[in-house]
Amino acid sequence: MTAGPPVLETRGLTKRFGGLVAVDQLSITVPRAQIRGLIGPNGSGKTTTVNVLSGLYRADGGEIHLCGRRTDKLRPHEITACGIARTFQIPKLFGHMTVLENVLLPALAALDRGAGGALPEITERARGLLDFVTLDRLRHAPAKELSGGQSMLIQIARALMVRPLHLILMDEPFAGVHPSIRDIILEAILKMNREEEITFLIVSHEMAELRRLCQRVSVMDEGRLIAEGTLEEVANNQLVLEAYLGP
Ligand SMILES: Nc1ncnc2c1ncn2[C@@H]1O[C@H](COP(=O)(O)OP(=O)(O)O)[C@@H](O)[C@H]1O
Ligand SMILES: [Mg+2]
Repeated sequence: MTAGPPVLETRGLTKRFGGLVAVDQLSITVPRAQIRGLIGPNGSGKTTTVNVLSGLYRADGGEIHLCGRRTDKLRPHEITACGIARTFQIPKLFGHMTVLENVLLPALAALDRGAGGALPEITERARGLLDFVTLDRLRHAPAKELSGGQSMLIQIARALMVRPLHLILMDEPFAGVHPSIRDIILEAILKMNREEEITFLIVSHEMAELRRLCQRVSVMDEGRLIAEGTLEEVANNQLVLEAYLGP
């Protein structure tokens, strides 16, 4: 195990939409190099949690610490600079730009702010990552021509452009994705985790994939953390069963 602070730690994290408490006093800790699942019924606050962690939404209460640094008051690009990348359930790609340009975007933005490497170097890295997700041959195609699964692979390649990289947040990476591409995504996650000690927080309801990926899962219901443990442990937890099936 690597010493040092956990890669992700939230304390009493809270996000409200008007009167609705979408994330309610959420405290979770994910140590370095763990692949953590985040599950829960529809509307339990998983996506909102990812949106708050990535800085898309501002928390209404509580704290977020990434690698020991407090980030809940930072802007999204400052959070990215802490080594956090994410993917969206509905891929956010620029349809008229090429696949390669879409992967290059975060590095180009960093270049613009005077950080990161030189253009030839980042282009080579982007090509390598496109190869890693099996899409280098499509690099000159407009992103809008990709299937849903291919778009998810591009989002993953784009996330991997972020350097340094400590944590990847993924919202439903397997939803609506063809089984052959699911396997590529799964292998990519395992390889990045094994070889670069990248930590993952993966929102998913795909139990087969979670079983292969996650040492532990956290379960949310109505914004709150209701259980944590191995998939087997939480699947046998009475609160979890009630959350999914009703009491
Ligand atoms: N932008 C928003 N504005 C208002 N309510 C929202 C917004 N995003 C999510 N919600 C509400 O917050 C709750 C949690 O939603 P969400 O985080 O998307 O759940 P999950 O991803 O677990 O299905 C739901 O009741 C949802 O309707
Ligand atoms: Mg969601």
